[in-house]
Amino acid sequence: MANVIVVGTQWGDEGKGKVVDILSESFDAVVRYQGGNNAGHTIVVAEEKVVLHLVPSGILRMGKICILGNGVVIDLPALTHEIGQLRKLKVRVEDTLYIGKSAHLVLPYHKILDVERERHGSQKIGTTGRGIGPAYADKMARVGVRIGDLYDPVAFRERLAAVLAEKQAQAGLESLLHTLDATTLFREQMQHFEQVKRFLVDASEVVNRFIAEGRRILFEGAQGTLLDVDLGTYPYVTSSSATAGGACTGTGVGPTHIDGVVGVMKAYTTRVGEGPFPTELTDATGQLLRDRGQEYGATTGRPRRCGWLDALALRYAVRVNGLSTLALTKLDVLDTLPHIRVCTAYQHRGNRLSAFPNETGILAECTPVYEEQPGWEESTIGALKLEQLPKACRAYLDRLQELTGVDISLISTGPRRDQTILVDTPAFRGWGLHR
Ligand code: IMP
Repeated sequence: MANVIVVGTQWGDEGKGKVVDILSESFDAVVRYQGGNNAGHTIVVAEEKVVLHLVPSGILRMGKICILGNGVVIDLPALTHEIGQLRKLKVRVEDTLYIGKSAHLVLPYHKILDVERERHGSQKIGTTGRGIGPAYADKMARVGVRIGDLYDPVAFRERLAAVLAEKQAQAGLESLLHTLDATTLFREQMQHFEQVKRFLVDASEVVNRFIAEGRRILFEGAQGTLLDVDLGTYPYVTSSSATAGGACTGTGVGPTHIDGVVGVMKAYTTRVGEGPFPTELTDATGQLLRDRGQEYGATTGRPRRCGWLDALALRYAVRVNGLSTLALTKLDVLDTLPHIRVCTAYQHRGNRLSAFPNETGILAECTPVYEEQPGWEESTIGALKLEQLPKACRAYLDRLQELTGVDISLISTGPRRDQTILVDTPAFRGWGLHR
């Protein structure tokens, strides 16, 4: 038995989609526990690119069960669109997709509020504009709508009308909220609900039953540690619990059933949206990372901010997630660089910091102290074994393990499934992932 959580260790976009896709081969079910269609996984299967925003990437593996847990927020039109795309790819979603009844809905007024707050509010976060923050805010304020509420159309209609009226009363005259009408909203949502209600389940009951039957569960986090609403670089974060703890509350599975946590890290750092990023590079090297790594958002197409790896941020991710092991992605993006830098400390007002200060004001004033290593300047694309990697590259990997105190169990050497090195580590062996 092995029930394992996969989390991002940076600001999202670490390549979790590929890691989950590879690991899912050895698991029976993949459960997504937070976030909504602000996330986007680009997966390449047989040269075909697929972008998934809501449904876990495991859906592309024949027979794997994919579950959206109660911690996820669902935009119904986005979900029905995604299901339609999967059907076109001949994926048998009918047999394998389950949706937690208690997941909250992202409704059109959430999207309007998100975009208008970004445009006119006092603080720009650089959100994806998908209504995620306002939907989670309503959940916490106890005025949200859960997908299972649509089983009772009369009650749903009443609630929708009341919540919309309240939001319209609070909005300025110029707000697009005034263009919404509760009857139309109700009809649209019900139309999409009819297409997905066959997938609805009590997700906690299903996952716990699977665990009791000895099936193996992979918990998939969206975004990353530094975007977690509690533990990330607040307020420049998303509105959910992206760290490992969120897997329990977002699925209704107790911590005693979890066997370990895989942290996915990119060989460098990226960030989309606003907020401090000490190792950001605004020079030619930053552009090179963006170009070689194709660092443009899977959801919004925005160019990602790029920079060197930050060992303080990684050690922080090891701590707050209790990481058992690491999966390293996009190693090949560094192949052409003559020198590679890793931040090993920060300078802050004359002091040297060796731990990540999770206070945005302090982080914004930190300058990175770098350690430089020689690059390898040869291709690592498609390497299948550690021994195939250049010496300088292996030295870089060894140093990362030293700096984080955690083994690297998986190295991605290209976008395709087969471009991957699986390392024989105690964590992967213990979970039966290394054969
Ligand atoms: P929201 O999640 O749309 O509210 O956006 C809040 C912050 O999280 C913004 O900085 C977004 O760019 C960032 N964010 C949300 N989802 C992702 C993701 O999947 N990858 C990277 N950044 C994300």
